[in-house]
Amino acid sequence: MCHIFPLLLFTLLIGLVLSCGYIPPKPGEVQHAFIESGHSIHKREADHNLRIKYFYDEESLKRITIDKFRIINNTVLPEAINYWQQALFVKPFMAPIKLNRKCLNDRTLYSEFIHNGYQHFHPYCVDGCDEHTLCGEVVIPENHLEECRVCEMNGENCQTVPTNYSEVGIRDADFVFYISTMQTDRCNKGSTVAYAVHCQQETTFNRPIAGHANICPDSISTKPQDLDTLISTFKHEILHALGFSVSLYAFYRDFDGNTINSLNKHMGPYFISNGTRISQKILRRVTRDNWKVHKGEVAHKVYLITTPNVIKEVRDHFNCSKLEGAELENQGEDGTYLTHWEKRLFENEAMTGTHTQNPIFSRITLALMEDTGWYRANYSLAQPLEWGKNLGCDFAMKSCKEWIDLKRSQKQSIHPFCDKVKKDPLQTECTDNRDSVALCNLREYDEMLDKEFQNFDYIPNVRNETLGYYGGSVALADYCPYIQEFTWKLNDEIVRGSKCSFSENNPLPEKNFALEQYGPNSKCLNHNSEMWEERNCFEIRQWQHWGSGCYNYRCSDGLVHIIINNHTFTCFEENAEINIHLYYSNWLHKGTILCPKCSEFCENCESFNAETLNQMKSKFKMEKHNLKCSSILSSPSLPLTVIVIIFMFYINLFIWI
Ligand SMILES: *[C@@H]1O[C@H](CO)[C@@H](O)[C@H](O)[C@H]1NC(C)=O
Ligand SMILES: *[C@@H]1O[C@H](CO)[C@@H](O)[C@H](O)[C@H]1NC(C)=O
Ligand SMILES: *[C@@H]1O[C@H](CO)[C@@H](O)[C@H](O)[C@H]1NC(C)=O
Ligand SMILES: *[C@@H]1O[C@H](CO)[C@@H](O)[C@H](O)[C@H]1NC(C)=O
Ligand SMILES: *[C@@H]1O[C@H](CO)[C@@H](O)[C@H](O)[C@H]1NC(C)=O
Ligand SMILES: *[C@@H]1O[C@H](CO)[C@@H](O)[C@H](O)[C@H]1NC(C)=O
Ligand SMILES: *[C@@H]1O[C@H](CO)[C@@H](O)[C@H](O)[C@H]1NC(C)=O
Ligand SMILES: [Zn+2]
Repeated sequence: MCHIFPLLLFTLLIGLVLSCGYIPPKPGEVQHAFIESGHSIHKREADHNLRIKYFYDEESLKRITIDKFRIINNTVLPEAINYWQQALFVKPFMAPIKLNRKCLNDRTLYSEFIHNGYQHFHPYCVDGCDEHTLCGEVVIPENHLEECRVCEMNGENCQTVPTNYSEVGIRDADFVFYISTMQTDRCNKGSTVAYAVHCQQETTFNRPIAGHANICPDSISTKPQDLDTLISTFKHEILHALGFSVSLYAFYRDFDGNTINSLNKHMGPYFISNGTRISQKILRRVTRDNWKVHKGEVAHKVYLITTPNVIKEVRDHFNCSKLEGAELENQGEDGTYLTHWEKRLFENEAMTGTHTQNPIFSRITLALMEDTGWYRANYSLAQPLEWGKNLGCDFAMKSCKEWIDLKRSQKQSIHPFCDKVKKDPLQTECTDNRDSVALCNLREYDEMLDKEFQNFDYIPNVRNETLGYYGGSVALADYCPYIQEFTWKLNDEIVRGSKCSFSENNPLPEKNFALEQYGPNSKCLNHNSEMWEERNCFEIRQWQHWGSGCYNYRCSDGLVHIIINNHTFTCFEENAEINIHLYYSNWLHKGTILCPKCSEFCENCESFNAETLNQMKSKFKMEKHNLKCSSILSSPSLPLTVIVIIFMFYINLFIWI
C-alpha cells in the first residue's frame, strides 16, 4: 500500500539581492563651499580621524515606528558612521562647516580670492538666495548656512545679507550628514534599503563635506538576523557620499593635494557623471578582445580605476602583476554602472552593486579612499576578501567561461564558480568557508542571454542547444554562476535564512528532518548522496531536499566533534561518513553527514598513528539510538505509509515511491 501525502513547506528564494539605490547628483545639485582650514601648510596632513556629524530630518522621522527608529538611531547609524570615522583620516577643519546657499534661478557670479596659497571663490547670487537650500532631498537648517551673498548682474553692489543667528555652522565636524527616513519612489524601486549622496564640496581640495542619506522605512527589518546587512548597506551608502562615486572621480587629488584631472575653477561645466573626460590616471577604459563566450569570442569593454594604491592592492589580491587596475561595474543603471566594483571579480566586497552575502570592506576599497587624495586609511579595519584571492590573471582578466574551461581541462575545481543547475531534487551545498548552507545560483532564463553573457559550452545534464539560456542569477556578475546563501519563504514571507551562525534560522522541530542546529557555534556540513528519512512505527517520511546542513561542533583532543541533538560524533578523518540514527520530535531520523577536514573547524588538530587512532575511536564511541519498534520497522512485511516531503518550489514533481 502506498500513499502519498505531500506536505508543502517552503518555497525557496535564491539570491536575495538587495540593490544599491545610488544615483549620482546632477549638475546644480552640488554646491561648493569655502571652509577656512586654519592651516597654512600646502600639503595635506590627513592625520585626524574623520569626524562625521549627523542631523535628522525631523519631519520624516516622526512617521516611522519607534522600533525602527531605535534600530537606526541606536545601532545602524552609530556603527556605520563610527566605522568610517575609525577607518579614515583627514586634514581636520578648524572652523565650523558653513554650507553654501543655493541661488535663485541658479544665477551665480564668483568672486575669487587666495587663501593660504590656494585659490578659492565665493558665489554671489544675482537674483537673491533661494528660500531653501536642499541637500539631496532634505532642507538644510538655516543655521548651517553661510550668509546670503548677492550682487548685481554686472558684478556691482555686492553685499552679504546678515543672518539672524548668533552662531552659524557645524563645529568639530569634517562631514555633515542629513538623515531622512522617507518612503520615496526610489525606495519602492527594487529592494532599496537606503541611499546617500554628497551635496556640497569644499573649495580647497574639493572634498565632499555634506551629504544626504535616506533610509527607506518599509525596507527596515527589525529582525536581529538582518541587522548586519542593514549596517553594511548603510556603510556602503555612506561611502558613495564620501568619495566612491563617478561624479567625484574627476576631483580626486594626488598625494600632494594637486589635481589630477584638469578642472574648471568653479567646478561647473566639468561636472562629470558618466566617466567621460576623466583622466586615465584615475579611470581607464580597456577592451578585452578575446573574451571567450559560448561558441566564440567577443570584445568585452571594461572600466578600471587606475590610481596607485588601488593598482597595488588589486594586483596583490589577485596575484596578477599585469592587471591595469580595479574593474568597475559595467552593467546596471545610472548609479550602479561605474560607481561599484565589478561583481564578477569582487563578489562579496561590500562596494559591489548588489548585496548577496557576507559583505566585507576590503583593502581595495580603503585604497580607493586614499587615492581620492582626501583621506588616509587605517588598513587594519579592512576585512579579508577571499573571493578571487591569488587566483591570478586568468581569473582577473578573462571571462568566467574561459576560467571554467581551463579548470575543467586541468581536472580542478571550477571554484569560485559552479555549474550545478538549481533543479529537482534540490541539493544544497556549503559555502567555501562553511558558514552557510548554499546553492549554486545557475538557472535557466526564459530568453536567451546576450552573447557576451553566455558562459558555457557544457553544463552537466543540459542539452547543447539550450546552453545560451543558462546563467547565474546575479546579472551584475556577468551571469557567472556561483555558490550563494539563500532564504526560505513560506506564503511570500521570508521564514529563515541559511547562515549557520544565526539561531533564528533554526527550522521548527517538526520540520527539522536533518537534525540541524543553527547558532553561534555552528558550521555547514555536507550530507552524502542519500535522502534523509524519518520513521515512526507506522510511517516513513522522505525529504526531497537535502545535501547539507548546519551543525554544532566542538574541538578537543586534536579532533573535531559534531554535536547532533546532544549526541557527540567524532570525526577521525575527512569525508568519513557519520551515520545518524536518532530519535527526535517523535520520529527516528536517518541520514548521513560527512566529516569536514579537522583544520577547517579547529585550530589544534592532530594526526594520530593507527594505534592511537584506535584508542581514540574506542574513547569516542558512536552512540546508537533506535526506536522501540525498530524490530517492527526492519520487518519488510509491514505495510508502511511513505510520505514524500517536497517543497513548493517543486510542486509539479511529486514522486511516488
Ligand atoms: C539616539 O542615539 C543617541 C546616541 O547615539 C542618544 O543620545 C539618543 O538619546 C537617542 N535618541 C533616542 C530618542 O533614543
Ligand atoms: C529674522 O528674524 C526676524 C524676527 O524674528 C524675522 O522676521 C525675519 O524673517 C528673520 N530673517 C531671516 C532671514 O530669517
Ligand atoms: C557622457 O555624457 C556626455 C555629455 O553629457 C555625452 O556626450 C557622452 O556621450 C556620454 N558618454 C557616455 C559613455 O554615455
Ligand atoms: C587603526 O585601527 C586599529 C584597530 O582598530 C587600532 O588599533 C589602531 O590604533 C588604528 N591606527 C591608528 C593610527 O589610529
Ligand atoms: C603568484 O603567482 C606566481 C606565478 O604567477 C606563483 O609562482 C605564486 O606562487 C603565486 N603566489 C600565490 C601566493 O599564490
Ligand atoms: C555538445 O557539445 C559538446 C562540447 O562542445 C560535444 O562534445 C557534444 O558532442 C555535443 N553534443 C551534442 C548532442 O551535440
Ligand atoms: C540537550 O540537552 C539540554 C540540557 O540537558 C536540554 O535542555 C535540551 O533540550 C537537549 N536538546 C535536545 C535536542 O535534546
Ligand atoms: Zn552603491
